[in-house]
Amino acid sequence: MPAQAGIQCFGEPGSRLRGSDEMRPDMDWPEPGPDALTHSRRLAELIASRIAAAGGWLSFADYMALALYAPGLGYYAAGARKFGAAGDFVTAPELTPLFARCLAAQAVEVMAACGDEILELGAGSGRLAVDLMRELERLGRLPERYAILEVSADLRQRQRALFEAEAPELLDRIHWLDGLPDTLVGLVLGNEVLDALPVHLVRWQGGQAFERGVVLSESGLEFAWADRLLATGPLLDAANGLPAPGDDYLSEICLAAPALVHSLAERLGQGMLLFIDYGFPRAEYYHPDRREGTLMCHYRHRSFDAPFYLPGLVDITAHVDFTLIADAALDAGLDVLGYTSQAHFLLNCGLLERLGELEPGSTAYIKQTAQVQKLIQPTEMGELFKVIALAKGDVPLPMGFARGDKRHTL
Ligand SMILES: C[S@@+](CC[C@H](N)C(=O)[O-])C[C@H]1O[C@@H](n2cnc3c(N)ncnc32)[C@H](O)[C@@H]1O
Repeated sequence: MPAQAGIQCFGEPGSRLRGSDEMRPDMDWPEPGPDALTHSRRLAELIASRIAAAGGWLSFADYMALALYAPGLGYYAAGARKFGAAGDFVTAPELTPLFARCLAAQAVEVMAACGDEILELGAGSGRLAVDLMRELERLGRLPERYAILEVSADLRQRQRALFEAEAPELLDRIHWLDGLPDTLVGLVLGNEVLDALPVHLVRWQGGQAFERGVVLSESGLEFAWADRLLATGPLLDAANGLPAPGDDYLSEICLAAPALVHSLAERLGQGMLLFIDYGFPRAEYYHPDRREGTLMCHYRHRSFDAPFYLPGLVDITAHVDFTLIADAALDAGLDVLGYTSQAHFLLNCGLLERLGELEPGSTAYIKQTAQVQKLIQPTEMGELFKVIALAKGDVPLPMGFARGDKRHTL
C-alpha cells in the first residue's frame, strides 16, 4: 500500500514532511546515522501496516508494544546499545555493583525462607544478574537456579555474552526462559520492568473518558493522535476506578502490569516478588496538576515526550502507579509486605556498610560514593524510585523495608 510504504520519520535524509518540525523535539543531540534511520523507517512502515489492518486506528498500548518489542525492529528487540553512558539511559545496576550487592543481601534472606531460586524479569544488559550472582557466590549462597525471562532476543544474547565474559563459571545456573514457568518459589525480581510495559492513554474531557490512539495523518506519511470514546471494557472499568481527574486531563493506564502480577501470583508458591521502578501512589500519579501524564522518551540521555519520533531508536516509558500494583497483588491473594523509597530500601539492605568496605580516599571509594549519592539522593533516584514487595506464604518482613515503610500512602 503506497501510503504505508512511504511513511517516513523526521530526520530521514531528504524528508520533506509537513509538520515534521513539530515531531522533532527541540534539543541538541547526536543525529542517528543512515542505517539507524532506515531501521526506524522500516519499523514505522510495520506500525503503519498494523494501523491499516486494525481499521485505521491503533491503541497507544499497541503502538508502544510494537515500537519497543516488534521482533527484530523494536527498541528493545534490535541491536543498538541502550544501557549505560554510551546508550540512552542509565539504570541503577549500571551505576554501581553496590546496588546488586544490596539486592543479594535481600535475596539471601528470601531464599532462606522460601527456596533457593531467583527469577529476574527483563534483565537488560545482564549487569544486575552478573553482579548479583557474583555476590551470592562470594557469600556462599548461590541459588540452585537463576532464571531470566527476557522478551528481547537481542538482550538475551547480550546477557549470555556478559556471563561468558565475566562469570563463565556461573553459566550452568543461568536459565533463559521462553515464558513464565508453571511454578515459582524464592525471589522474583524486576528492576525497571514495569515502566517498560505498554500503557493505554486516556483523556478525560467533558465528563467522559476517551482512549487516545494512533492513526496515519491525512498525507499518510506521519503518525497522528486520534481519540475515541471509551464505551465498555476493561480500560473503561480501570478508568472509572480512578479518582475523578480534572477536565482536559491526559494520563496513562497500564493493564499489562496487573496482568503480570496476576500471572506471577498464580504460579508463586512460597516466595516474594520485588519490583523496583520510578512511580507514585495513585493519588500522586493522577494528581490534578499532572495534566499531561508521565509518558517519556529517552534517546542518548535526552528526555522528551514525542513518542512518534524515530520509533525503534527511542525508548518509551511511563511511571508506575504503585497502588495499581498493590491492588492487583491483594486481588491475586498476595500480601503487600513493604513499599518504600529506593533510598530506604538500599540503606536498609546495608548500602553504606558495603561502601564502607572500600578503602576511604581510594579512587574506588570516591567513584562509588558519587554513584551511591545518585542512588539515594532525593533529587536523583532516591525518592522517585520505589520498591514494592509482594509475597505468598510464610515470608518474614524483608530487611529492605525495616525502616521507612510507606504502605499507608498506597
Ligand atoms: C528499562 S529495561 C531495564 C533493564 C534492567 N532490568 C536494568 O535495570 O538495567 C526493561 C527490560 O524489561 C524487558 N521487558 C519488557 N517487558 C517484559 C516482559 N513482559 N517480560 C520480561 N521482560 C520484559 C525489556 O526487554 C528490558 O530488558
